[in-house]
Amino acid sequence: MALLIKGGEIVNAETRTRADILIEGETIQAIGLGLDAPPGTEVIDAAGKLVFPGFIDPHVHIYLPFMATFAKDTHATASKAALIGGTTTFIEMVCPARNDDALEAYSTWKQKAEGASACDYAFHMAVTRYDGDKTEAQLREIVADGTASFKVFLAYKNFFGVNDEELFQTLKLAAGLGVITTAHCENAELVAQLQQLLLAEGKTGPEWHEPSRPEAVEAEGTARFATFVEETGATGYVVHLSCAPALRAAVEAKLRGVKLHVETVLPHFLLDKTYGERPGLEGMKYIMSPPLRHERNQPALWHALQAGMIDTVATDHCPFDKEQKLLGAKAFTQIPNGIPGIEDRVNLMYTYGVKRGRLDLHRFVDALSTRPAKLFGLFPRKGAIAAGSDADLVVYDTAWRGKISAATHHVNNDYNAFEGFELEGRPSVVTVRGKVQVRDGVFVGEAGRGRMLRRTPHHRRQEAAQSA
Ligand code: URP
Ligand code: ZN
Ligand code: ZN
Repeated sequence: MALLIKGGEIVNAETRTRADILIEGETIQAIGLGLDAPPGTEVIDAAGKLVFPGFIDPHVHIYLPFMATFAKDTHATASKAALIGGTTTFIEMVCPARNDDALEAYSTWKQKAEGASACDYAFHMAVTRYDGDKTEAQLREIVADGTASFKVFLAYKNFFGVNDEELFQTLKLAAGLGVITTAHCENAELVAQLQQLLLAEGKTGPEWHEPSRPEAVEAEGTARFATFVEETGATGYVVHLSCAPALRAAVEAKLRGVKLHVETVLPHFLLDKTYGERPGLEGMKYIMSPPLRHERNQPALWHALQAGMIDTVATDHCPFDKEQKLLGAKAFTQIPNGIPGIEDRVNLMYTYGVKRGRLDLHRFVDALSTRPAKLFGLFPRKGAIAAGSDADLVVYDTAWRGKISAATHHVNNDYNAFEGFELEGRPSVVTVRGKVQVRDGVFVGEAGRGRMLRRTPHHRRQEAAQSA
């Protein structure tokens, strides 16, 4: 059935215009004023509302065996929560443990998502061990299957973390294949040593998590990753950058001409290290890595985001419930790392970014939709409202008022790190490839509608653009 979204204010990364959007099947057919619709078309009145391209979360964990447990969401729960919050596509990290087989892990992650996700999705393939020709052959197969981005961890020694030799091999292969490599940038050895020193001094509570991974440790990881990207001619993407010293390292690399992009995640804009310093379980809820930082970093992050030095805003969605967090009751090093956010990113960034004057409306769309689409090979299918693009649309009600609460959220977790935060807007209608999946905070659509998005490497996209 056709769908006509009538009279909304269409906001793309570069343009803003009041018009109707006609959708036939899965794609946008036409955009214009006073569009005629075929008989039987469902009409959605968007007068007085903003219409955004579906938002893309480029960094989430849904299935994740990690720190002696598993992240709580399933693809069914996380995708519905994502859609209710306006996110129509997510990119999930496939994270094999160091001793796991990469191809087997890739197939496990695909099986978990297939038929279960209500929104579209893609993967980044984490390289957690580099075993010469075997790894190269496996990664080539994974890229040929449409997963055209890698992930490396410079942190998590002996689990996900790679050494410098493996980092070099991964980036060299990525450069040759034309795929972007995303990286968690903290010096694993320094973290391991500092953790042991603190524990030996009897410092076991969650408040010691941040001191065990200080800003300098992240700045070192970021600078080192940038140098490896520079020397291999690869394209890099720093995930969840949290603080000004790491930002400085990334910007210095950008100024040298290194092809380096930067992501910051929702918690680092809105929460600071005092949350993690709360006693006991209250502090454990806020443990993630890199850790929540001193609040002095937040103005730098907001300015850099507005200026485009920070390219994207993701969530690093990674829910562990209270019982799981208590695995770290005796030692902060055992607290499962992660904070959920997939449902709240769009509304919180709109309220505390756009409405508070920190973020221009177009940069908001760019950072949360268009730029992730461009960097990860989804544009212009995703990330834009344009004829021919997928009809992933968010009709946004800026008059709605509410509050975040674990009592009403849809993520499969028993707390919300943003509990009590006021919201000034939410999606009233969300579509995925032309099908209405959400109305006014309620999932009304088709579970399992989501499809895996297959992407081509960067150089093949350039060739296609040149020959078009
Ligand atoms: O604390 C975090 N960020 N947990 C998820 C794993 C990761 O490092 O991205
Ligand atoms: Zn990470
Ligand atoms: Zn992550």
